[in-house]
Amino acid sequence: MDERKTMFSGIQPSGDLTLGSYMGAIRNWVDMIDDYNAYYCIVDMHAITVRQVPADLRRRTMEQLAQYIACGLDPHKVTLFVQSHVPAHAELGWVLNCYTMFGELSRMTQFKDKSAENINGGLFTYPALMAADILLYQPDYIPVGSDQKQHVELCRDVATRFNNIYGDVFTIPQAYIPRVGARIMSLTDPTSKMSKSDKDPNGCVHLLETPEEIMRKFKRAVTDSDTSENCVRYDPAEKPGVANLMQIYSCATGESFDEIEKEFLGRGYGAFKTAVGEAVVEQLRPIREETKRILADKAYLESVYRMGAEKAAATANKTLRKVYKKLGFVAR
Ligand code: TRP
Repeated sequence: MDERKTMFSGIQPSGDLTLGSYMGAIRNWVDMIDDYNAYYCIVDMHAITVRQVPADLRRRTMEQLAQYIACGLDPHKVTLFVQSHVPAHAELGWVLNCYTMFGELSRMTQFKDKSAENINGGLFTYPALMAADILLYQPDYIPVGSDQKQHVELCRDVATRFNNIYGDVFTIPQAYIPRVGARIMSLTDPTSKMSKSDKDPNGCVHLLETPEEIMRKFKRAVTDSDTSENCVRYDPAEKPGVANLMQIYSCATGESFDEIEKEFLGRGYGAFKTAVGEAVVEQLRPIREETKRILADKAYLESVYRMGAEKAAATANKTLRKVYKKLGFVAR
């Protein structure tokens, strides 16, 4: 029997993966690959809560899968799959909608932030589907960025409510927020998270971008408002731009903040930004090349997502059947 703890996480294919997705999420998943029984899902059903161009959604889903593999997520060690390939997500999602309160959903900050236009029902009930994603696999930990903590809390509340009525059906999972690289910020606005759906293309670096594009973005990255100081020093409150670049450089090279400060003593922001750009280019180069190679092999990618869906469905259906039985649904 597998004694390891279980992990589950998902990323929406709503934009191209960024350096933030890599340093904040995927790289940590790779580091934990042998220690956990892990499920990593491409949550395409969540992505359609915001209008998508169908061809782009399809392309990004395949690219995301290829990038997971290229980053080191071996599909024979972890379960990689596409949410819409496992119908149990939609099915348990509906059930949990009936155990999630209007008031709870109304308090979600992500809903409030995204509610400027196209306020559809799916956007509102998104956290119930996310709870279903998670609870189907009975995981112990949910590695997510700090922005998703509220959704995981809601998932725990819903699972606890359900267990209180029907007995121990769900494992109550815990959010697992990584310490390093948890929050890579925008290069142009270091007070907001680097996001794949950012309006400003200069704020974020995509995993598949060319070295030239990456260098250009780092060279124009915001350092601090008082550029006269021109000194590389870790001070997130006063110099969030410099702190963010140090965080990125540290993730790419393994150097500590102290070592970085020493390395760039008296060398100024210009030299530092170039060095950060070069370190990132070198870190992403093999990932970009490997992604291209994998994307060209469509049959291989298909075999990966089929295998993933099969493995995921086996676990998910077990939980779903248990839930249906508890609810009083007649077994077919
Ligand atoms: N809501 C997450 C995000 O926007 C994506 C997501 C969907 C997710 N289902 C999940 C993350 C389950 C972790 C677990 O980033």
